[in-house]
Amino acid sequence: MEDALGKFRDNHHEFTQDVSSELGRDPLSIFRDWFEKAAEGNDLEANAFVLSTSNLDNQSSSRIVYLKEILESKFVFYTNYESQKGKEILINPKVSMLFFWPTLSRQIRIEGICTKVNSSISDAYFKSRPRGSKIGAWASRQSDDLKNCIDLEERIKEYDEKFDKEVPRPNFWGGYQIETNLFEFWSGRKSRLHDRLVFTRNGDDWDVSHKNP
Ligand SMILES: Cc1cc2nc3c(=O)[nH]c(=O)nc-3n(C[C@H](O)[C@H](O)[C@H](O)COP(=O)(O)O)c2cc1C
Repeated sequence: MEDALGKFRDNHHEFTQDVSSELGRDPLSIFRDWFEKAAEGNDLEANAFVLSTSNLDNQSSSRIVYLKEILESKFVFYTNYESQKGKEILINPKVSMLFFWPTLSRQIRIEGICTKVNSSISDAYFKSRPRGSKIGAWASRQSDDLKNCIDLEERIKEYDEKFDKEVPRPNFWGGYQIETNLFEFWSGRKSRLHDRLVFTRNGDDWDVSHKNP
């Protein structure tokens, strides 16, 4: 473990990116630009982000999900509504998202309010998925204890036989959209003088501040 950690000592890339040039821009367009750059570069799964939610005890929990689209400025991902995250979003819709693109030495922190997307949007997305994923959505009781693997395999078989043609979308599975109210753009710079630009929603506008690294 110690040797492995040593490998990452002082491993900040010698980047000289400056986020000040982004001042005066809309945060969503900055996000789109940075995302496109990450997607065309070497960051595998650039659309994966950490989603953090919290429960009634204010205990936060995080997991990775995929960003699937941005609809009317809202960030959309898909999941099981009865999963741990689904239950926590119901209790507290204030969530945070974190993108990290190591090859660009960039991080984007986003905060916002999470609500279910319109069922027609979930239907359209579900329809576009491969059959195996559709059956998987029915078979997996996401976040529940798994009795054993045979149990899951049997449920997959059961639903595969039940829906021999079209697989309908389960009503416990669908999309969430996050309406953003904060963006923080972080760019790695030399000697740890990292650059942070924070946008906070102010009505239809955004207040901008430059933070100490
Ligand atoms: C790269 C990656 C992408 C993932 N994408 C999703 C996703 O889009 N939706 C989803 O429900 N789970 C996704 N997962 C699984 C989640 O991280 C998590 O294990 C699962 O949703 C259960 O989370 P919960 O019990 O906290 O609700 C992904 C995991 C990884 C590692």
